[in-house]
Amino acid sequence: MNNITNLPTSIQKIILDISSYKDKMTPQQARNIVMNASVRAEDIEYWQDYHHPLTNSYGRKSLFTNSLFEIMVMSWCPGDISTIHDHGHAQWGAVQVFGYAVFKTELMANIDSDGFVTNFNYWNLLWNELLQASQLQCELIGEIHNKDSCYSYAEIYDEVVRKESLKKITSKYIQFIHCKYHLDLSSSRILSIGCGTGIMEEYLLKNYYLEWDNVLGIDTSESMIKLASKRINAFVGDILDIKYTNSCDIAFASLNVFQSFVPSLMEEAIEKTSRIIKNDGYLIADFITSDHIRRYRNILDSENVVLLRKPSLIEESHNIIQQNEVINVAILNSKLQIMYGGKHNYYLPSICQVRYILGKFFNRVDIFDALTFAYLNPEDDTSPSTQYLIVAQK
Ligand SMILES: C[S@@+](CC[C@H](N)C(=O)[O-])C[C@H]1O[C@@H](n2cnc3c(N)ncnc32)[C@H](O)[C@@H]1O
Repeated sequence: MNNITNLPTSIQKIILDISSYKDKMTPQQARNIVMNASVRAEDIEYWQDYHHPLTNSYGRKSLFTNSLFEIMVMSWCPGDISTIHDHGHAQWGAVQVFGYAVFKTELMANIDSDGFVTNFNYWNLLWNELLQASQLQCELIGEIHNKDSCYSYAEIYDEVVRKESLKKITSKYIQFIHCKYHLDLSSSRILSIGCGTGIMEEYLLKNYYLEWDNVLGIDTSESMIKLASKRINAFVGDILDIKYTNSCDIAFASLNVFQSFVPSLMEEAIEKTSRIIKNDGYLIADFITSDHIRRYRNILDSENVVLLRKPSLIEESHNIIQQNEVINVAILNSKLQIMYGGKHNYYLPSICQVRYILGKFFNRVDIFDALTFAYLNPEDDTSPSTQYLIVAQK
């Protein structure tokens, strides 16, 4: 071994701990070794390099190297930016940060102002790097939330997807329906199927003077309900298991809820919903068309979150599905989190099929474009904005 006695004791400890390691080391173990060494900024000040050439993006000084690993001090001046990259043969490393570091990528230079990718080579590279980073982070945190695919995603969904769509779509169509059908929302009993984070229901409560006890949300996702419960009455449950009948005046299913069912269960979900609604009551639901993928932005972002989305059209048992794969990069509770959000499927029946199914359980079915509110006729097989709105009366 190289002579290490002139290195700070904390660094010597890291070298000895790694060298005495017999098994294959995981990133979690490497992290523990670094943390247990309690390196202080003063220990490594001697190797700082803030006068590095601009082209290097950051200063680097090697403290120790052998055939297995290397210990390096890296120095970023305020404003220095470096992209994710490997170091020769190194596959991964543990980095202890002193001071404040911000994660950024040149992502925004490779998408247009509407959030669509313009450089697919760059996008695919970035996607794969983020996938690896999210796996590594799962390993480090020691938790993978397989059980509930919406775990943590609920907060991100709320911040980047739902707030914007409430402003641009849902609040506007509620206003449209409220006027067109002369609905007395303030005295209506409302059930929201697949209520998600309850943001739309909270909006209804506040803006249409509904009574707290008259609004109820149901969702299968625990993490969605955890957030929703801060806003409305909501419980974890599956609409397919609900036994109530004739108990609400209006049922909402907003942001493609029925399309998140597998094709064989969508009709059952609509039927079960219709049973809960009182006679003359309404179902208000929105859907996307099979050409919605054209409008599906690859990037959504807010101050603390960047959501990367890869949509594709797939076919399963002769049904068309829009499959959205997502990666979230977020600063949550002051920590950077890179999370693979999995694949989310949305069944894309034709508008005619949806109209036919609803016609089995409702006396009147009106369909409008969800943005322009243009009335869709029975022969229309798409909707100008690629999103449409159903108002069905029992
Ligand atoms: C696209 S999200 C829409 C959420 C919410 N309605 C909104 O407007 O933001 C679809 C929601 O439906 C829920 N969901 C899916 N299947 C369900 C079921 N069988 N019963 C109740 N909720 C369900 C999901 O957990 C998810 O939160």
